[in-house]
Amino acid sequence: MKICVIGTGYVGLVAGTCFAESGNDVICVDIDETKITALQKGSVPIYEPGLEELIRRNLAERRLWFTDDLVSAVRASEICFIAVGTPETSNGAADLGGVIKVAEEIGSAMNGYRVVVCKSTVPVGTADKVGEAIRAKTDHDFDVVSNPEFLKEGAAVEDFMKPDRVVIGASSPRAIDLMQTLYEPFVRTENPILIMDNRSAEMTKYAANAFLATRISFINEIANLCERVGADVADVRRGMGSDRRIGHHFLFPGVGYGGSCFPKDVQAIIRTAHENGLGFPLLNAVEEVNERQKHLLVEKVVGRFGEDLRGYRFAIWGLAFKPRTDDMREAPSIVIIEELLRRGARIEAHDPVSLNEARKRFADRITYHRLNYDALEDADALLIVTDWNEFRRPDFGRMRQLMKTPIVFDGRNLYEHDVMREQGFAYYPIGRVAVEAR
Ligand SMILES: NC(=O)c1ccc[n+]([C@@H]2O[C@H](COP(=O)([O-])OP(=O)(O)OC[C@H]3O[C@@H](n4cnc5c(N)ncnc54)[C@H](O)[C@@H]3O)[C@@H](O)[C@H]2O)c1
Repeated sequence: MKICVIGTGYVGLVAGTCFAESGNDVICVDIDETKITALQKGSVPIYEPGLEELIRRNLAERRLWFTDDLVSAVRASEICFIAVGTPETSNGAADLGGVIKVAEEIGSAMNGYRVVVCKSTVPVGTADKVGEAIRAKTDHDFDVVSNPEFLKEGAAVEDFMKPDRVVIGASSPRAIDLMQTLYEPFVRTENPILIMDNRSAEMTKYAANAFLATRISFINEIANLCERVGADVADVRRGMGSDRRIGHHFLFPGVGYGGSCFPKDVQAIIRTAHENGLGFPLLNAVEEVNERQKHLLVEKVVGRFGEDLRGYRFAIWGLAFKPRTDDMREAPSIVIIEELLRRGARIEAHDPVSLNEARKRFADRITYHRLNYDALEDADALLIVTDWNEFRRPDFGRMRQLMKTPIVFDGRNLYEHDVMREQGFAYYPIGRVAVEAR
């Protein structure tokens, strides 16, 4: 099939590349010329495991192209995906400016029937608006399909290649048929292609993200209560999750959720509820808990070192909002670092892949370390903010030698109490009893 994907970010780039990998001809379009020039040479602007190799192979085998020429891309394609960003506006709603602009451009460019697929996360009713925007620019036939994306950054290629399900919101049999043909190679392991109307498809994406965010805030509340009553959230989580009605996924307490999706999507669904005369008190609470949780680690630091942190040096391991990505959008690390800086602390930061992203935000206000142990030199404490695998089994002896004082504030519960006690660390996890220094 001949496809174009407009918007070459985390979603568009992965979707376009994976469609090419399954044998389609794919043109990826972006307005960012620097990004397009880099991609044409096989240089990938984001970190996503496995992606670069796929891009290079499909470029070399001439199934994948990158361009800033939307008109030619639309004319060469039967299916046009819209995958531009839908950031949060000041009132919490999703900003549809980019999506509608692209819809108009597709309308102006098309020279025959097209399926226009909205892959961006968009509020209920957007497919109708996309349809109106296209109709205003063309007399050609078209169908609008809502096909929300459920990939996880850090495992995006794997998720796209083997999705739990594919949701297709459409009413036209012709469009449904094309979409089923396109997605069949990805669902060979019995996972379903779910056909529904556009509005239900749009709602499904928000409902899924809002529910996942709710699980995180729920376990964070349980964790905070565990700390107060002397229970261990790691055991509680296992005990709860073993119930098949609950399950183990997305029940890890930590420093709050971040990223480009959960915060804005929770806001957007609350906004949709308000616009339709409903409140959404449950999600207001989810948000509130999450905001509070981002401050928890610094509260623990203040509990140990006092309000004034001038003269203290803190190592931070992990800056990305989650492991295996360089994405720092809405990352809890930003709140944590800003708060420590405000209190006068010095920050020695390490992340396996997001130091460049961090430099864009913090410039010379913090120090950057390519190697995790280098960040520990003379540190008064270590804060673990992202659960990268490489932090799970560190050399505790080496850490102790490098640090001024062996203290770890663990925002991801990576270590066991008895190990930390044996190793002579003061250890402050989330939702578990702390180990005080001997
Ligand atoms: N990132 C995720 O994990 C994820 C997962 C599922 C769904 N989504 C949704 O997918 C959408 C895209 O997210 P993302 O993270 O890929 O965004 P992103 O910001 O990484 O990428 C968006 C891209 O669109 C380009 N763009 C903007 N306007 C354009 C235009 N007029 N023409 C061509 N290109 C244009 C930008 O230059 C950028 O490269 C959002 O609605 C998001 O909510 C994201």
